[in-house]
Amino acid sequence: MEAASPSSQCSYSYEKYKETADWLLTQTERRPKVAIICGSGLGGLAELLDDKTIFPYKDIPYFPTSTVQGHAGQLVFGKLQGCECVCMKGRFHFYEGYDIQTVTFPVRVFFLLGVEILIVTNAAGGLNDSYSVGDIMLIKDHINMPGFAGQNPLCGHNDARFGVRFPCMSDAYDRELRVLSKQAAKEQGCDSFLQEGVYCMLAGPTYETIAESRVLQKLGADAVGMSTVPEVVVARHCGMRVLGLSLITNKVVTDYESSERANHEEVLRTTEHRAQDLQRLVSHLVTKL
Ligand code: HPA
Repeated sequence: MEAASPSSQCSYSYEKYKETADWLLTQTERRPKVAIICGSGLGGLAELLDDKTIFPYKDIPYFPTSTVQGHAGQLVFGKLQGCECVCMKGRFHFYEGYDIQTVTFPVRVFFLLGVEILIVTNAAGGLNDSYSVGDIMLIKDHINMPGFAGQNPLCGHNDARFGVRFPCMSDAYDRELRVLSKQAAKEQGCDSFLQEGVYCMLAGPTYETIAESRVLQKLGADAVGMSTVPEVVVARHCGMRVLGLSLITNKVVTDYESSERANHEEVLRTTEHRAQDLQRLVSHLVTKL
C-alpha cells in the first residue's frame, strides 16, 4: 500500500494556467492591466468596451464554461474609456458544481497575462438594516464562509510562482481603489446610494434561512452572496490589487413575521434597474487608474 500524501486538491498545474495564458497572448495583441469579473446580469459592462476582441469560453483551452441563466460565457478584451481591460462576461460559481480551483482558474490566467488590478462585481442580499435595494456597496472586507468549511482555493500544494504559502488577507480590498471609487461615485452622482461594508460568501445555491441571516448580521456582515471571495483570495495571493462592488439586489429576510421571500427574479430585476449606474461607476473609475 502506498504511503498517504497530501492530496493535491489543485486540479491545475502552473503549466496549465500558462498554456491558457500563452494561447490568449498568441491570439490577441491586447495586454490588459485591469480585469473585470461581471456578476449576474452585470455583463453589460463588457458591451461598453471599445475595439473588442471576444473569446467564447468554450474556445479557450482549459477554460470552464458557465451554466447559469443571465451569465454569458465570454472573455472580452477591449478599451474601457481608453483603459485596456479584459472582462469576464459570466463567472463560475461553486454552487454550479465546479470545484473551488475551477472557479478561480481565470484569475491566475489574468495574472499570467500581466493583469495588475482585479475588479469584481456581484449581486448580493443586504443584511445591514440601513441599506436599500439598489445600493452599491464597496467591499471593504469579506467573510470567507466556505473557507471556514475547508473550501479555500489555496488549499493543496502551493506554487511559489503564484504567491506565498500563507498570504495576508487583512488588506484584501485595496484602500486607494476604494477612495478613487468614492470620488468616481461623487462625480457620477451615485454617492447617495454608495455604501461600504463587509461581504459574506456562502456556497449557495439556497438563499439563507432567517436564523442564518441573523447569524451573519451578528458576525458583522453587511451583505451576503454566493461568489467573489474565491477569486479575490487567488488574486491577492498573486499580488493583484482588488476592488469589489456588490449591488444590493434584495433585502435579506430576518423577521419571522415577514412574507418576503428571496428569489432570483427579484435579484435580476434590481440588477437590470441599477446595472447602468454600476457600469458608469466602473467606467469612470478606470479613467482614474
Ligand atoms: N443571498 C445570497 N446571495 C444573494 C442574495 C441573497 O439574498 N441576493 C443576491 N445574491
